[in-house]
Amino acid sequence: MAETILVTGGAGYIGSHISKALALSGYVPVVYDNLLSGHRELVRWGEFVHGDICDYTALSLAMRCHNISGVVHCAALAYVGESIANPDAYYHTNVTGPLNVLRAMQACGVSKIVVSSSCAVYGHADGAPITEDTPLQPISPYGFTKFVMERMLDDFDMAYSVRSAALRYFNAAGADADADCGEWHTPETHLVPRIVMTALGRIPELHIFGNDYPTPDGTCIRDYVHVTDIAQAHVNAMRYLSEGKPSCKVNLGTGRGYSIKELVDAAEAMFQKKIPCVIHPRRAGDPAALVADARYARTLLQWMPVCSSLDAILATGMRFTQSFIGHD
Ligand code: UFG
Repeated sequence: MAETILVTGGAGYIGSHISKALALSGYVPVVYDNLLSGHRELVRWGEFVHGDICDYTALSLAMRCHNISGVVHCAALAYVGESIANPDAYYHTNVTGPLNVLRAMQACGVSKIVVSSSCAVYGHADGAPITEDTPLQPISPYGFTKFVMERMLDDFDMAYSVRSAALRYFNAAGADADADCGEWHTPETHLVPRIVMTALGRIPELHIFGNDYPTPDGTCIRDYVHVTDIAQAHVNAMRYLSEGKPSCKVNLGTGRGYSIKELVDAAEAMFQKKIPCVIHPRRAGDPAALVADARYARTLLQWMPVCSSLDAILATGMRFTQSFIGHD
């Protein structure tokens, strides 16, 4: 019989792609989301339960009623800058939230969980590709909450045998190839959708935050991973845990970084449009370069990014924004 997986945050950007990937792989996703940043329209691959991860009673009821056998935990607040301005909300949602998820799992006898972690747990890397053994020195409250969540998973494994896979995303980008789901934040602060919105003329110019970083062209370097690849990694990780394998922490990146200017150049070539850019001061909490050493995911989870070229990211991002997100 197909396993039912609770996807917290399943109405969000990454959670909706994960729900689709789970459904395509024979699982039954049940989406649990408070719709604070998620969208009901993106819940298309399973039942929807409207609830908050900080509401323990509703969460455990959802797990029990749906006979859940595993959890994918994505629900979180995820803006670095906002976490610096409002750490209270971040500790509440990103620490109390996963604690509730783990407690509800125990109450319902569920013992496997795949969670959204982040490369933000590493803080300022020295520019070299980041392995899973790189010291964890988060520099923002957001990164620190993900670090605490990972520690909680270690402790729950040791004490209660809850097995987990913490997937440390680098920069998720792009959208579903069928434009069934995609990146849809309000306000939208992420680079790829901002580039697409500039190309479409929906915003007049792209602000580039800093061109004085110690990188070849002075702009920040990130490792952009297609969200469909990220979603598939959750399916692989759930299968891995179902085989009884031990808890793990794994980078999800491509191993190749691109600067902001390189992304803009690629977008201008792809969309055949000039993208007006204006240099602004650095944004608080931005490390100069974050690039994954992605080898461990390959050996452990048999995961390789297959649709993470810049062209695929930009093309799918453009298609979703054009077809799904209207003008504000
Ligand atoms: N940037 C711009 N202009 C914009 C938007 C972004 O110059 O309009 C720059 C940012 O300063 C950064 C890069 O583009 O240097 C990427 O920014 P994003 O906001 O797209 O992504 P982040 O790297 O800030 O954030 C991502 C995830 C977070 C995660 C973080 C870890 O979205 O959840 O990586 O560093 F925490």
